[in-house]
Amino acid sequence: MRLSYKLAIPHILSLLHSSGAVMLSERDLPHVATTNYDFVIVGGGTAGNVVANRLTENPNFNVLVLEAGPSDAGVLALQVPFLCTTTTPQTLWDWNYTTVSQPGLNGALVGYPRGYVLGGTSSVNCLVYTRGSKADFDRYANFTGDEGWSWDNMLPYFKKSEKFTPPSDRHNTAGQFDPSVHGFDGLNSVSLPGAPTAIDDRFEAAIDQLGGEFTWNLDTNSGSPLGFGWSQAVIDGPSASRSSSSTGYLAREFLLRPNLHVLVNAQVSRVISERTRDGVPEFKTVEFRLNGGDTLFTASASKELILSAGATNTPQVLMNSGIGSASHLSEHGIPSIVDLPDVGENLFDHPIITLSWRVDSNMTYDDYKRNSALQDEALQTWKDTRQGVYANGISQHIGFVRVPDNSSIFVNATNPASGPGSPHFEIFVSNFLLGATPSEGNYLSISTILLTPGDNARGSVKLNSSDPFAIPLIDAGLLADDATDVALMREAVKSVLRLASAPAWGDYIIEAADSAQPGLNATDAQLDTFIRTNTRSAYHVVGTSSITRKGAEGGVVDPDFKLKKAAGLRIVDASVLPFVPAGHSQAATYALAERAADLIKATHSA
Ligand SMILES: Cc1cc2nc3c(=O)[nH]c(=O)nc-3n(C[C@H](O)[C@H](O)[C@H](O)COP(=O)(O)OP(=O)(O)OC[C@H]3O[C@@H](n4cnc5c(N)ncnc54)[C@H](O)[C@@H]3O)c2cc1C
Ligand SMILES: *[C@@H]1O[C@H](CO)[C@@H](O)[C@H](O)[C@H]1NC(C)=O
Ligand SMILES: *[C@@H]1O[C@H](CO)[C@@H](O)[C@H](O)[C@H]1NC(C)=O
Ligand SMILES: *[C@@H]1O[C@H](CO)[C@@H](O)[C@H](O)[C@H]1NC(C)=O
Ligand SMILES: *[C@@H]1O[C@H](CO)[C@@H](O)[C@H](O)[C@H]1NC(C)=O
Ligand SMILES: *[C@@H]1O[C@H](CO)[C@@H](O)[C@H](O)[C@H]1NC(C)=O
Ligand SMILES: *[C@@H]1O[C@H](CO)[C@@H](O)[C@H](O)[C@H]1NC(C)=O
Ligand SMILES: *[C@@H]1O[C@H](CO)[C@@H](O)[C@H](O)[C@H]1NC(C)=O
Repeated sequence: MRLSYKLAIPHILSLLHSSGAVMLSERDLPHVATTNYDFVIVGGGTAGNVVANRLTENPNFNVLVLEAGPSDAGVLALQVPFLCTTTTPQTLWDWNYTTVSQPGLNGALVGYPRGYVLGGTSSVNCLVYTRGSKADFDRYANFTGDEGWSWDNMLPYFKKSEKFTPPSDRHNTAGQFDPSVHGFDGLNSVSLPGAPTAIDDRFEAAIDQLGGEFTWNLDTNSGSPLGFGWSQAVIDGPSASRSSSSTGYLAREFLLRPNLHVLVNAQVSRVISERTRDGVPEFKTVEFRLNGGDTLFTASASKELILSAGATNTPQVLMNSGIGSASHLSEHGIPSIVDLPDVGENLFDHPIITLSWRVDSNMTYDDYKRNSALQDEALQTWKDTRQGVYANGISQHIGFVRVPDNSSIFVNATNPASGPGSPHFEIFVSNFLLGATPSEGNYLSISTILLTPGDNARGSVKLNSSDPFAIPLIDAGLLADDATDVALMREAVKSVLRLASAPAWGDYIIEAADSAQPGLNATDAQLDTFIRTNTRSAYHVVGTSSITRKGAEGGVVDPDFKLKKAAGLRIVDASVLPFVPAGHSQAATYALAERAADLIKATHSA
């Protein structure tokens, strides 16, 4: 039998001030009196912490953040950029999801990590900072009927969130990025690579040798991403540390704000409507458990609830609450409160595939992935000097490619690019075998991400149980659009093979790491087999609480993030994006959260 208690500010406050993000114990809760928050935010992840920070700039707004996972404080693996590949899957900071069988991948079940920790997925991801294209955001504006979503209107929010910092090694960055498109006063740190690698010069020579799609782009984050350049990552250069929404937006100075309360290990089961407003259900209360316990607590907001549980969990919380497809909810005996059939639908993700080669060098990262003596040494260097291999993420160079408009792929399939100048795939280069580390050998990996899945490549999040804490069923829709996805992926793999065939790698690459890896002479059938066997998720999940126009039939939220057919609830996280951007999804998530915070402040400014 679950008991329910109300939470109040004074008690949380007393615990908060000692430790920053608090962990309450159940024992304390019966002493708690009444609740009086202006805003309650569900999920202290990438977007949720942005909103929490910006709202509490107003000292009159009391904000409670409920985060299911633990605190990130003091965890080295979450701080050292190089260790990003160890933060998931199946760790203390991961929800440990797996997709349902993916028909596009020969039926494979694919690992599907999501951050389960303060900072959310920004605390565990691999740090790549890409914004997508101007056309992506102009398409959002067009699709939602809200010019606020256009690139020109979102660029100020990208800049507002960003603090571009010097790289750890303080190398001269002139000519490696375009300062005019970056922000320098924000809370999310970004930098260029902090330590050189032995392949940097070879990569540059390869681009110079190849031509074709291999052109230079001074800064692929300008809105015009086509071409190749230096990778930018969410790393604070001077401290050589991961920048997450926790390290930035919940830095100590912000946690000390008396009007910001952050509760970790607090998992929300549902949002509750106790009344209607203007004829629609109004949601002002959340229900949650602490430390996985059986007791359910509630907290209420006098102004708004903000749901920021991410693209897999936000739809789950909505469905637990009776918000979603009435027929799907009835399968689990959940009464329908707001009938919105698109909750959990329209899931967009990015397929990724990595090609690897054994190389004639001992200067790759592979030894640092498997030799504990080297690891100890690199960690000590990082601690002492904030320099060295451990200051780097997974890639030094990145680029974006558009398949020509006259390609035969688009004779029978709609071109899925968001607009002119927008890419179909991304390529990035790694100085090690990206994936499981072999016991010996040195490697080069080149990965490509299909940025523009076709119209039929849509997955979903559905409930598997009436238990609000059960794991949802996730269909990532990977390579599900037969006409578009595999054809574009073939072009992407060929492009990777062309890159690897540049003379610059001639005395470097020895052979493919996997003998089944195709070469440039491979047939389409051979490429397709390789692609369907080896493609996995890049984890750029969006779309499951999609924005549509105000008054539109479908969709989940209006362009101002408000839940349709309801009052009191906004959704602010990657799930609202109606299409996946042509890049890794965190930069867009920070920017949209900054915009949401401004809209919420404006609503309550009177
Ligand atoms: C392994 C991995 C690597 C990635 N690499 C990159 C990369 O290099 N670059 C990039 O741009 N993007 C990357 N991404 C994607 C990117 O990080 C995400 O798109 C983005 O961070 C999502 O932000 P969000 O706010 O929507 O969700 P999240 O950051 O996931 O935040 C959701 C938060 O809500 C909490 N929560 C969930 N359910 C509940 C509940 N019921 N009650 C309370 N709290 C709850 C979660 O624990 C989490 O803290 C990666 C993703 C993964 C998984
Ligand atoms: C994920 O798996 C790890 C390792 O088994 C475990 O410690 C962690 O608690 C799991 N996460 C969740 C949310 O259950
Ligand atoms: C906006 O969308 C409409 C169709 O919905 C399309 O006809 C039009 O060309 C689009 N405009 C831009 C600028 O993308
Ligand atoms: C790489 O090889 C060179 C020469 O064979 C050797 O001097 C050097 O120590 C090696 N470096 C590493 C990191 O193993
Ligand atoms: C596409 O156009 C380019 C130049 O405009 C041309 O070289 C190429 O052959 C065309 N490709 C196809 C498939 O028509
Ligand atoms: C397009 O579809 C037609 C009719 O089905 C088919 O004959 C043709 O081969 C297709 N073209 C391409 C490039 O797939
Ligand atoms: C879904 O529920 C069924 C039946 O309880 C269970 O066997 C299965 O493992 C669940 N799936 C997931 C992904 O948890
Ligand atoms: C491709 O070329 C390599 C040698 O360069 C050869 O070993 C391989 O058999 C060829 N594959 C096909 C499908 O022709």
